[in-house]
Amino acid sequence: MAMPRTPLIAANWKMNAAPSGFGSIESPYRSTDRVDVVVFPTALGLASCIAEKLATGAQCARPEEEGAFTGDIGMRMIRALGCEYVLCGHSERRRYHGETDAFVAEQARAALALELQPVVCVGETEEERNAGKEKEVIERQMAVLPANIIIAYEPVWAIGTGKTATPEQAQEMHAFIRSLLPEDLRASTRILYGGSMNAANAESLLIQPDIDGGLIGGASLKKEEFRGIVEIAGRE
Ligand code: PGA
Repeated sequence: MAMPRTPLIAANWKMNAAPSGFGSIESPYRSTDRVDVVVFPTALGLASCIAEKLATGAQCARPEEEGAFTGDIGMRMIRALGCEYVLCGHSERRRYHGETDAFVAEQARAALALELQPVVCVGETEEERNAGKEKEVIERQMAVLPANIIIAYEPVWAIGTGKTATPEQAQEMHAFIRSLLPEDLRASTRILYGGSMNAANAESLLIQPDIDGGLIGGASLKKEEFRGIVEIAGRE
């Protein structure tokens, strides 16, 4: 059966400057014939990525249209700027900004209403996995989410630690996540893996039937490393 899902490789630059040359013609941060590539710069970097015609998303945005939310930006504002995507519920947002499952779902719904594509992060902590609760956690995080989203499975213990989930562990969780989706969306929903993905381990992960791409942090700041991942994702 042909794969109905175009691979998506996303660069999450977190609180780092955009890599030099990100907007050049031969930039690895541009989509290719076979792979959708998206960048998530800081809020200050959005406009220049959009000006360079990269598919761009914000790392977070509030669902409200406007109001007394000092320091925040809203979904409508990033949409007006030209963002096509938005990350929702990254574990660093959940951890440092107290974002709850309900708030993450609200962000995803607000994004969809504006035709922004939400990439919603889910994932268990090391403690939860050691307690055998990883599926329970994912089920809880997924229960409130709207349909028609892109999901990023990011085990918290694998983010920025160099400790990648094994391809088997990741595939098991991706298949589980897919089983939680409404039946009519199972074949078309993209589920990305995130957590210390790099050019050396990308192939073993991306070859798994339920892994449709990656959300890349550290390795996305290194242009050639990132190019390698995009190339691997584009292989048949
Ligand atoms: P990492 O980050 O690739 O540095 O582990 C992934 C992420 O947090 O999205």
